[in-house]
Amino acid sequence: MGVEWKTTVASGDATWPLAASLEELAQLAHTAGIAVVGELTQRLDHPEPSTFIGSGKVKELVLQVAEAAADVVIFDDELSPRHQRELEKALGDDVKLLDRTALILDIFAQHAHTREGNLQVELAQYQYRLPRLTRAWTHLARQAGGRAGGTTGGVGVRGPGETQLETDRRVIGQRIVQLKKELEKVRAHRGLHRARRKREGIPVISIVGYTNAGKSTLLNCLSDADVLVEDKLFATLDPTTRRVVLPNGRPVLFTDTVGFIQKLPTHLVAAFRATLEETTESDLLLHVLDATHPQALRQARAVLETLEDIGAAGKPMVTALNKVDRLADPQAACDASAELPHCIPISALTGYGMENLLRAVEKKLESDLVRVDLVIPFARGDLVQLIHQQGQVENEEYSAKGARIRALVPRSLASILDAL
Ligand code: GTP
Repeated sequence: MGVEWKTTVASGDATWPLAASLEELAQLAHTAGIAVVGELTQRLDHPEPSTFIGSGKVKELVLQVAEAAADVVIFDDELSPRHQRELEKALGDDVKLLDRTALILDIFAQHAHTREGNLQVELAQYQYRLPRLTRAWTHLARQAGGRAGGTTGGVGVRGPGETQLETDRRVIGQRIVQLKKELEKVRAHRGLHRARRKREGIPVISIVGYTNAGKSTLLNCLSDADVLVEDKLFATLDPTTRRVVLPNGRPVLFTDTVGFIQKLPTHLVAAFRATLEETTESDLLLHVLDATHPQALRQARAVLETLEDIGAAGKPMVTALNKVDRLADPQAACDASAELPHCIPISALTGYGMENLLRAVEKKLESDLVRVDLVIPFARGDLVQLIHQQGQVENEEYSAKGARIRALVPRSLASILDAL
């Protein structure tokens, strides 16, 4: 079910044409294993307070669902708890009602494999469900209490004078607190890893992009990593990091992260903080764009907006215009993407343009070099080695105090040398 807003006051990204957004929703449904049997749209000024769509449209929807014998109705916009409640009433108990967010959460749940991924998805799911709990969800208390690994044993038991619904809300609330605690530990662990990488002075490059743009394929192409590649949305949920040596011999780390999508609610993005911090803490962003997608520029803008939301805007960026093996004129794609920084046409599938891409990355990292002039004691031969590996040495002299080196080095390494 899609709604086209006549004005931009209502929720929803008015810059996406309705048909394109619904097509993407159908793809999401397909990824979640749901077959699309019908579509319904309405043009509205603003959402109806009770049922989101107009009452006549609700009747039409109920009829269409019955005729198609559909089991699920999916709304392309996020429904408020009240909309959800009223629409569920109209559709009856046999029809499952989802909105775009719930559908994405289902896909995330199917695709999360690591502990970190699972924790984040569970947190996002509970945060989404808590305000939407309308009826006693009898299996939930046992489920959430059980998943807590016994540490919250007994929380699912109904307290004195408590309704089952209140119990469910309490159990979910407690689970959310616990999940947040566990995720803090994950964040701290990741923080330690990053600190170690920083000490080694190896620049980290985050591969970001719209879902299905080809991020995992690119990481595989660059590093021979065996990262899951699928023509499905959100195939990759857990970050993978691989070491790659640039043409100038400098080692860097590439990290593949969760894909972005339009209308991704902020609270959902927030639940993925531990993973997304890899992006906010990286030295460079490599934005992969599916240059063959009809909505390529809109997808790019959605990515840039999400980067802004997570505090990664303003980082140095190189744009990889991917899948140009399917284009007759790759240069035309570059011209059409002139608003994006440093566009390089590539094909992660055939390897076309990889050398150019790595050179662009190299250049961008070099533009972030700072000049240092310092004496390094002989005991810190490791730092002299790092400067040679990572930077460009302009002058090197030895004295009784150690090595006096003047060089251009990455900012990440300069901060280590500052601490000398
Ligand atoms: P998410 O995990 O959903 O964020 O996807 P992703 O950005 O990691 O995309 P992935 O690498 O899984 O690729 C998605 C689809 O695009 C797969 O079917 C790939 O084979 C295909 N693909 C990736 N790169 C290219 C390319 O250069 N050319 C062509 N023709 N197809 C590509």
